[in-house]
Amino acid sequence: MTPARSDEELAALARAVQKLSYSPYSGFKVGAALEGENEVYSATNVENRSYGLTICAERAAVFSAVSHGENKFSRLALASPTEEFLVPCGACLQVLAEFCEDLQIILSNSKGALKLTSLDILFPHPFEM
Ligand code: THU
Repeated sequence: MTPARSDEELAALARAVQKLSYSPYSGFKVGAALEGENEVYSATNVENRSYGLTICAERAAVFSAVSHGENKFSRLALASPTEEFLVPCGACLQVLAEFCEDLQIILSNSKGALKLTSLDILFPHPFEM
């Protein structure tokens, strides 16, 4: 069982991993912390000089979790480098929708303010087949 942790604690994990962002091309540092049933999977965006190979923090977190045998998620915290709250990109929303019917999403801006939303609100019509 995942130990109970507050939204603020999950956001703090996202802000901690954000510092490790490899983003020399955009300078845009993102951190994600995805809460599974057993662990929290933190990841950052990793860019590449072949720009299209870049992976977003959210997808890196999902892939890490699945690679550790977890695919049931309850919350995602996302740390933005700007005062604007960063919303996951469409590709990441589709990947999250693969595993989650709904998911609480905690957005954290550069000042540490939090805004709560959900996958259902941000992405009500995922691709399905
Ligand atoms: N990025 C993320 O990590 N997550 C998002 O939801 C949007 C964008 C990253 C990708 C790239 O390294 C940088 O932010 C600028 O697009």
